[in-house]
Amino acid sequence: MQQIFLWKFLIRLMSNTQSMLSPAELRAETASRLWQVIKYEHSESIDNAIKPNLENAEQQSWMSAAIYGCSRYYPRYQNQLVQLLKKPIKDNEGEVKALLILGMHQLSEMKVKAHAAINETVNACKILDKLWAVKLVNGILRNYQRGLETRVHKTELTQYAHPKWIIKQNKLDWPQNWRDILDANNLQAPMCLRVNLQKTTRPEALEKLQNNDIACEAHPTISSAIVLQQAVSVEQIPGFFEGYFSVQDPAAQLAAQLLLEDENDQSLDMLDACCAPGGKTGHLLERMNNSSTLLALDVSAKRLELVHENLERLNFKSDSKKIQIICADAADLNVWNPESKDQKKFDRILLDVPCSASGVIRRHPDIKFRRNLEQVQELTKIQKKILQTMWGILKPGGRLLYATCSVFKLENSLQIQEFLGTTSDAKVLPLNIIDAINTDLGSQIFPGTNDCDGFFYCLIEKKNNS
Ligand SMILES: C[S@@+](CC[C@H](N)C(=O)[O-])C[C@H]1O[C@@H](n2cnc3c(N)ncnc32)[C@H](O)[C@@H]1O
Repeated sequence: MQQIFLWKFLIRLMSNTQSMLSPAELRAETASRLWQVIKYEHSESIDNAIKPNLENAEQQSWMSAAIYGCSRYYPRYQNQLVQLLKKPIKDNEGEVKALLILGMHQLSEMKVKAHAAINETVNACKILDKLWAVKLVNGILRNYQRGLETRVHKTELTQYAHPKWIIKQNKLDWPQNWRDILDANNLQAPMCLRVNLQKTTRPEALEKLQNNDIACEAHPTISSAIVLQQAVSVEQIPGFFEGYFSVQDPAAQLAAQLLLEDENDQSLDMLDACCAPGGKTGHLLERMNNSSTLLALDVSAKRLELVHENLERLNFKSDSKKIQIICADAADLNVWNPESKDQKKFDRILLDVPCSASGVIRRHPDIKFRRNLEQVQELTKIQKKILQTMWGILKPGGRLLYATCSVFKLENSLQIQEFLGTTSDAKVLPLNIIDAINTDLGSQIFPGTNDCDGFFYCLIEKKNNS
């Protein structure tokens, strides 16, 4: 017996697969990281949970797809589990719940063969030291598998795999489009790049990528964007660390374009009021002329570290004459720009406010179980306060771009409507964003349209006669 074990061990060693986890180990590892994501308190973001990488690249990509997929369909699986279980699984046994969800996901979406999905997930119970759950996981997954072909979704929650409040909010705001929005939220978003047009042209950039076997195409409506056929690691992108490319959704690339459309050769004082992690800050710097200045603020010191990293990669020096980065609450002018001390006013303000992120669920499916309506209502108060404060430091004739990655009207057009109701010197400028819903209260891009995330933009000018 011992000899067989030794032989098996030697064969594994010789075939250089010592870094491979067994199928059951892979499921155990995936379930325990998944539990870190779905556990409400102290939960990890998906990006953090899929790190550190497993040694084997194929297994890493399996685990990453499984964690994203389980999170995407979590509201559905959670609801179905309630039907399948006689009594709920306690939170201190959360890894068993995660194993069940992982099993369901393998069977329904990952198309793993039923016997492998069930047996290896059951075996994972032993690895996680949950022997008590072996029979339970086996029974539930077999039951689930039997019903798969014939199961019909009886509720919108299970059909669209979104929590009720998100479905309700989308229906209320977008009675014609809510189904498409929810469907798009459940699709995987492509990886998109922004070309640094200061350094190269888009055709050259496309050629460079294609010569490195990265299949990609130009974005149909956004001139700096490239859509990759398959996600790659940034290490594989030629010139990434020299600042030729940034990873950024095409809709997010509109911000700098809209704010600087009429820049011409003027020197402008610009403010990026909520800048971290710095995607749009970098783009503003790439586009603005040499005599303009940019002040970038964020309330989160931790997130500002990412801004510094981003700008360094793009070869911009912070704390130079051109760019300054400050950690502060934008709405607290007394701290960073007091009236008493020669208060600075700006020609252009980018206000990419903290929001529900309901437009980027396809990239961050955990939003479905991390957010709730009360939090969104709280966020609207913060948005309102920052918007009002920023208006006070915008120069007459200056422009403020209000942006969210949300599709909820209460963070978008309703927020603007309320602002206009109390601000007589504000004028909304028309934006004709292709394939967006353009209104006189801003433009809404829906998730999935031309491979874009859901974004809202409203460009407001301060009348000169104030
Ligand atoms: C949507 S993100 C900004 C994304 C960023 N513009 C980009 O393109 O990378 C919103 C940011 O607002 C910041 N924030 C939240 N409340 C703030 C406040 N009162 N003042 C300044 N920043 C704030 C958050 O820390 C977060 O980094």
